[in-house]
Amino acid sequence: MQILVAGGAGYIGSHTCTALLEAGHRVIAADNLCNSKAETIIKVEHIAGKDMVFYEIDVTDTASVDTVFANHEIDGVIHFAGFKAVGESVEKPLDYYYNNIVSTMVLSRACMKYGVGKFVFSSSATVYGENQVPFVETMDLLPTTNPYGETKAVSERILTDAARANPGFKVSLLRYFNPVGAHESGLIGESPNGIPNNLMPFITQVVKGKLDRLQIFGNDYPTIDGTGVRDYIHVMDLAEGHVSALDHLTEGVHIYNLGTGQGTSVLQLVRAFEEAIGVEVPFEIVTRRPGDIAECYADVSKAQEELGWTARRDIIAMCRDAWRFENSYSD
Ligand code: NAD
Ligand code: UD1
Repeated sequence: MQILVAGGAGYIGSHTCTALLEAGHRVIAADNLCNSKAETIIKVEHIAGKDMVFYEIDVTDTASVDTVFANHEIDGVIHFAGFKAVGESVEKPLDYYYNNIVSTMVLSRACMKYGVGKFVFSSSATVYGENQVPFVETMDLLPTTNPYGETKAVSERILTDAARANPGFKVSLLRYFNPVGAHESGLIGESPNGIPNNLMPFITQVVKGKLDRLQIFGNDYPTIDGTGVRDYIHVMDLAEGHVSALDHLTEGVHIYNLGTGQGTSVLQLVRAFEEAIGVEVPFEIVTRRPGDIAECYADVSKAQEELGWTARRDIIAMCRDAWRFENSYSD
């Protein structure tokens, strides 16, 4: 298939381009590079040993998107392009609603116009809000506490309505849990701007000596050791989940959790990192981070049964690959 990957130069998008190329698909990436670099595209080509097409465009711009669809016979779209920082979304709600929702509108309308029948969307476990773990796809969505989460819930709704009204427009809504790690080559990975918000890049930067020590946000949650529990998934497993979702996409709307199904606490992740790398991670316990939930992990049986996909890489591999990438990119 020939796949348009919107946001293809980003963290998850670049790993997915690699997995698509390796699975024999042709890839057209579209990205405005607002949170990524063009050199990532070259690195993806190098890893896969294959070329891809790249458009530096904003996918909220209808005319630019139209040009891409007019120039290529596209079989499917994977939509990663969006803003993703929860805290920033509270400060800049209009930017988040505009970018994340208009991009979904423009890409899905182009699919209608050009008869493209496959659409895979990057959603997030954040749409489950404070449901009981493990999160199952059939749960009612609870309101999220921030505009970022709302953009995911609204985009899911838009695509669901579009698929219902247009038989032949097949949609897969993928709810990611906590993507971490990097491609095994160390060539591509996540390089957050400024001080990282997320746990794994924070740990790698502490061990690298860029940051003083990890602050663990609370040890009084009702969890195994009091620290927050998340379902960390290796970004290459996540990338391969997209290839499976495309390959198995049938009529209608399909929702899948992409996680491992395993909860890991902050302290367990710290210990796993120490074991994987053979270093000590200095940390201190501080108060809870506002908006955090105690536990978030997936029921992954639906993706296993319907996509034949399961996450294969363990927490040690996630730590090792995150660390390899931390050591390979310059800042
Ligand atoms: P990322 O920021 O690394 O990648 C997003 C890419 O989209 C970037 O390359 C950026 O330049 C591009 N982009 C943004 N707006 C654009 C626009 N209007 N036009 C063209 N390109 C645009 O983020 P990521 O971690 O790879 O996340 C990809 C998707 O997955 C996002 O939609 C995000 O909300 C979702 N998601 C991410 C996580 C996570 O933890 N990383 C978790 C759940 C869901
Ligand atoms: C965050 C986002 C969520 C997104 C997810 C995956 C928020 C509120 N939520 O969730 O929307 O889908 O990332 O990218 O930002 N922790 C520390 N110290 C740190 C950083 C984190 O103790 O310096 C703890 C957190 O309290 C949490 C766990 O580590 O228990 C994971 O945090 P993080 O990586 O930020 O992910 P989420 O909170 O799951």
